[in-house]
Amino acid sequence: MIAANRVFDVLDTEDQIQDKGTIAAPEFVGKIEFQNVHFGYNPDEEVIKGISFQGKPGETVAIVGATGAGKSTIINLLNRFYEINGGAICIDGQNIQEYSLDSLRMQIAVVLQDVFLFADTIYNNITLHNPAITEAQVYAAADKIGVRDFIMSLPGGFHYNVKERGAMLSSGQRQLIAFLRAYVSNPSILILDEATSSIDTYSEELIQKATETITKGRTSIVIAHRLATIVKADKIIVMDKGLIVEEGSHFELLNKTEGYYKKLYDSQFLAETKI
Ligand SMILES: Nc1ncnc2c1ncn2[C@@H]1O[C@H](COP(=O)(O)OP(=O)(O)OP(=O)(O)O)[C@@H](O)[C@H]1O
Ligand SMILES: [Mg+2]
Repeated sequence: MIAANRVFDVLDTEDQIQDKGTIAAPEFVGKIEFQNVHFGYNPDEEVIKGISFQGKPGETVAIVGATGAGKSTIINLLNRFYEINGGAICIDGQNIQEYSLDSLRMQIAVVLQDVFLFADTIYNNITLHNPAITEAQVYAAADKIGVRDFIMSLPGGFHYNVKERGAMLSSGQRQLIAFLRAYVSNPSILILDEATSSIDTYSEELIQKATETITKGRTSIVIAHRLATIVKADKIIVMDKGLIVEEGSHFELLNKTEGYYKKLYDSQFLAETKI
């Protein structure tokens, strides 16, 4: 009884977000705009302290910064998992609050650091049992992303059961499956929170290629930890303590002596490239 009551409490919890949007979002062109956005998970503690930036259609924007800077929070806000306290977030010139939640989220694919897979086959983990996605599409996507060989090397190939939470795969391999899942849904906007944990060289290479393919031609926001991803981005946003401290391309930012990005690069990546 006690357990049941707890479950009902959870079921009764009202969503923090009120789905008042009346516009069914049309297929996005992919222009993203944050205008002086303020947000805190708790009312007395702002974690996003007035952030403004733009992502043009087709562009890849990389967000870098220290842990706790607010990078993942930006993703939560774009998907409207939380309501902001000030400013506006617009996609294609329309405040995202005007869009119905379903139509907004349907067009944004998210690949998180920690990928969740179901105790099911790889195939079903890719399509999520969506009958509109055909087998041919899945195989074509696997070719495009460059992971078909890896999947075929598993016992049963696409019908390999990954078991609870994808326990049979490494974290890099789980992220590759998530790439495929995102790719077949053909989202207008892609969000990628790169895994920080170390990944074997083979998966690393596959992930780099997959990232390139999946971000091509669609607006992408990548919380980047890999130098290769950062260098290829059209724009880098450097965050610190809830604010944007620098913005520009890799080379522009490297040329700022005493810059935040330059320091980050010197401490984190210079050693990496020397190796
Ligand atoms: N659900 C939450 N409830 C309350 N505070 C949170 C929540 N999620 C994050 N925070 C706080 O908000 C701030 C920004 O967190 P966020 O996760 O956006 O950082 P991040 O830049 O993604 O860090 P990392 O590089 O470690 O992933 C941190 O101070 C964090 O403690
Ligand atoms: Mg994060």
